[in-house]
Amino acid sequence: MTPCFVAPVSIRPGARSPTGTTACQQAGCLRFSLFLPSSSHRQNPPARQAHRHKAPTMLFNFFYNRAEDIDLDKLAEKHPAVLVTDLRKTFKKRVKGKGSDKKENKIITALDGVSFSANRGQVLGLLGPNSSGKTTTLRCISTMSDPDSGTAQMFGIDVHKDPYLAREMLGFVAQSAGLDKVLTGREHLELFADLAHLDRATKRRNIEAYIEVLGLKDFIDRQAGVYSGGVIRRLDMAIALLHQPPILILDEPTVGLDVESRMVIWNVLRHHRSQGGTIILTSHYLEEVDVLSDKVVIMDKGVVIAEGTPTELKNSLGGDRISIRLQEFTEMEEAELACATLRKRGLAQEAIINRVRNNTLELVVSSSNARVGGEIVGALGEIGFEKLFSFSQSKPTLDDVYLAATGQSLSDADQVAKEKRTDKAMRQESMA
Ligand SMILES: Nc1ncnc2c1ncn2[C@@H]1O[C@H](COP(=O)(O)OP(=O)(O)O)[C@@H](O)[C@H]1O
Ligand SMILES: [Mg+2]
Repeated sequence: MTPCFVAPVSIRPGARSPTGTTACQQAGCLRFSLFLPSSSHRQNPPARQAHRHKAPTMLFNFFYNRAEDIDLDKLAEKHPAVLVTDLRKTFKKRVKGKGSDKKENKIITALDGVSFSANRGQVLGLLGPNSSGKTTTLRCISTMSDPDSGTAQMFGIDVHKDPYLAREMLGFVAQSAGLDKVLTGREHLELFADLAHLDRATKRRNIEAYIEVLGLKDFIDRQAGVYSGGVIRRLDMAIALLHQPPILILDEPTVGLDVESRMVIWNVLRHHRSQGGTIILTSHYLEEVDVLSDKVVIMDKGVVIAEGTPTELKNSLGGDRISIRLQEFTEMEEAELACATLRKRGLAQEAIINRVRNNTLELVVSSSNARVGGEIVGALGEIGFEKLFSFSQSKPTLDDVYLAATGQSLSDADQVAKEKRTDKAMRQESMA
């Protein structure tokens, strides 16, 4: 996203410029839109709830200084931190009609009844190939987009009925950061701390803390225009975390980052969770979702196809995976003999020969027998394969879960979807 226009610190939700557009519309800045009502509320502003007398203060500090009119501990006893129920969302797109140059409307179903929940202190990983509806789900939860139907709640508060309150409770890291090239990192942090109405002491303490934990010291007084992708992402994280929101939402937080930045971000996310924060993140990286998430929701074509802890999902597939290369160049007959032997002895539940990988044996074996690997090596030794070229045993991965549910691997599905959806289309969609 192009760097955004920087609104004065005194920007207020829904404030109009002399031209009648909001700062957000002028800037095309996703982050500023968090300070503004979503489209339907801009047209029909909701009546303020009776118990809230003050103007919405946007983001305030729930961990150090809970809002007077909300007892998060009490709410968390009765409600999950995030509850999404039957979200549906369609988009109209102008496309060229078949056989003519005329444009016609095409309806795209981005979400087709998405439901899931995350408890307080949990990390929920949303996994799915490109175009599966991850970003649309996050935009609906964070009030930046109105669903056609369905609800999203934070601690029992319907985010579309009370978007001001919902926004006070969340931090959002979008797929691409909306930073200003001219401001320094520190000026960004100060600006957003003021927008979040942090008091002076909290502001100073939190800014220094996040500069430290996100490793921003060497860059913080330079203009953001010279930052690398990793530093931009870390600064974006610091901005989202400044007010210590009880719910943190991140859209592909580590895509394209160097290993160091990725590790820093992982550590900060783990720390936020240990403080009682709830995190919803999307990622293309299977291992990232696997390592960080307490719960995984796998999406495909706008629907949830699997949900559970990473271990539950993987265990649901049954046995471990063993991959054996008998020799550097294995003949087909040799691989067939080995397969038949292992099947006959009941050591493999399934055995196939992977021709693409040099006639490698791919086995599914019982995960309850801890010695099965040794027994297989012994059985192969008895038929003449004393020295194996390679042997590896692993648990099923989340990719195997996706494969079992859809019949294709996540990376294949991602590739197919990417070919259909250009970068330009994605940029336009994120501004819509
Ligand atoms: N503003 C929009 N206008 C038209 N189509 C959109 C818009 N936003 C998303 N889409 C479409 O909705 C589907 C889901 O998109 P998205 O939620 O961005 O998926 P993901 O984040 O999983 O890649 C895609 O087919 C995408 O093209
Ligand atoms: Mg996305």
